[in-house]
Order: sequence, then C-alpha cells, then structure tokens
Amino acid sequence: MTITDTQNQETFGEFRNYTDSKFQDRVERTYREMQTNQTVDFVQAKKDHYFKLSHGAMDIYQVFKLLEDIVDESDPDSDMPQIIHAYQSAESIFEFAMKDATELRDDLSIKELFREKAWNELPTKWRELYENNTIKTLYKDIQDWSWFPLVGFIHDLGKVMLLPKFGELQQWCVVGDTYPVGAPFADSNVFFDKEYFHLSSDYPTYEKQDETSFGKYTRHCGFDETDMTWGHDEYIYEVMRQGSTLNKEALYLLRYHSFYPWHTPQNGTMAYTELASDFDWYMLPLLKAFQKADLYSKTPDLPPQDVLEAKYTALLNQYIPAKAINW
Ligand SMILES: [Fe+2]
Ligand SMILES: [Fe+2]
Repeated sequence: MTITDTQNQETFGEFRNYTDSKFQDRVERTYREMQTNQTVDFVQAKKDHYFKLSHGAMDIYQVFKLLEDIVDESDPDSDMPQIIHAYQSAESIFEFAMKDATELRDDLSIKELFREKAWNELPTKWRELYENNTIKTLYKDIQDWSWFPLVGFIHDLGKVMLLPKFGELQQWCVVGDTYPVGAPFADSNVFFDKEYFHLSSDYPTYEKQDETSFGKYTRHCGFDETDMTWGHDEYIYEVMRQGSTLNKEALYLLRYHSFYPWHTPQNGTMAYTELASDFDWYMLPLLKAFQKADLYSKTPDLPPQDVLEAKYTALLNQYIPAKAINW
C-alpha cells in the first residue's frame, strides 16, 4: 500500500486497533503502567543515565542482531521481528515518497495526510500553508532526501533498552505512544477514559494551565523544551544526534514518531497544541508522512534480504561514517 492509495477517512486508523485486537490485554497493561509511572522525576532519571551512551559502541546491524527476539507489547496489531518492520518502514518510504535515491516525489499532497476532522480544526495560518504546498515545496531547502528511508530503517532501534545489556527496561518505558509529562494529560491519549493517569504520583500537580502556562511549561515553548515520556524515540534521537550526520529534520522524526496524541490522535483531535512552537507546526506534515509509512509498512512485500542489506549498508556508511557508535 502506498500513501497515494486513497485511504478513506473512516478506515484511517485501522492499523491501530485498541479495542478488540488479539493482543488487547498486554497492550492495555503497558499503557496502564506507562500512564501510572512516567513522571517528571522518572523521565529525568532515565535521561541522566541513557544520555551518557555508556552501553558500548556498536554498528547498526549489530544492534539489529541483538533485537531479533524482541516483540513490542504496545503494538495491538503486530508481533513481527524488528528487522522486518525496519526494512518495511524504509521501503515503504521509498515507495511512496521518493522519485529516486535522493529526490522526493513532486505530488505528495499534505492535505491527504490528515483526517477531515483534524484538517478542519487546524489553525487557519497552518492549514493555508499546508494547502498551498506539497511536502517537497514545504521543505524546499532540503535537496538531498536520501536520509528519509534510512530514518524509517533505524527509527525503532531504541527498543534495545528492553535487553539486559541495555538496562532491561520494562515495556511501558520503551514502547507505545509518547506524550509530555509535567503537563495536563490530554484526552487524545489512548485509554484516557480508563483514568490510569490519575494513579500517577504527578497527578494532579501539573493539571493546571492559564494564559501563559501549560503544566510546568510556558505555552508554545516547543516540544524540544518539554520532557516527553521516556521511550525508544528519545533514546534513538540522542544516539543519532551524537553519532550520525543526520540533519535536524531526520532527528526530529526519530524523536517524535511515537507522539500520536499530537500527530495522529485516535479521537481525531490534535492534543498538546498548547506546547507546539512554529517549528513543530512546520514539521507536522513531514512527521505525518513518516508515520503513515511506519504504519502501512505492516504489509509483507519485500525485495530479497541481501539486496536490502546492500542498499541500507550504503546509506548507513553515508550518514554514520564512524560505523560503530555509542549506545
Ligand atoms: Fe517506534
Ligand atoms: Fe515503528
């Protein structure tokens, strides 16, 4: 499936089934634990530890090797190996977004990335900008897009934190949707109605806002100024910020790809707009394009493994010249 196949609005969210999937119990448990235990202090402690990148130097394929047995328990629809999901995400980006190895397609509509409700609720300024641009013209400063599929390839590698060698974190602080801690918990988060967030020791300390503040933050400070729940996004962002030559757009996609209540809320209403900066709004279409490829990649249809490996090794050598980097 590609992004230009007209996904009708009603079936848009079908790849994320939170009500009756065969993995329902473990998915709900993961979110209950996350919304109970991800506090401001918890996130800070994890940053203090993991940002040191003191778990050894490894190249990307070594990390995939370690990830072979891991299953993401927050994912309601899938239990496929991570390397397959990685190739599928990357190839799916190639297929829908790329004209060739470096150039983006000309016809990537931004409006088609939004559900009708979310589109209509966009601030006028941003809706007009999105309406008058394609992905290519909105990000016209970027000439070489060869990194885009590579981001699809590596985006989930932060899940190594589940392994003993990387601290053996529990699923609730590695996988699943992310959201800012220290701010009012938005009703666009999954399982909001279950009120698990009331069990958090941060509740209700940060459930406050006024004209200038939102929780502990200044309004529109930008997501980079917030503390997101600790998980595989923030970790791979930091590994690549320090270890690769990827541009700021690529790093942004790594950092926020699981921020569903913002980019693709299950109830159709974008949350945490109170914290979004102009840069976050500017990056939203690209984040949504990336998210679409990540989800729609769960369809088996791949070139042979050796062909894929050669292709992505070349890209890795380009953007991670040191090959072995710190984790
Ligand atoms: Fe992910
Ligand atoms: Fe993913």
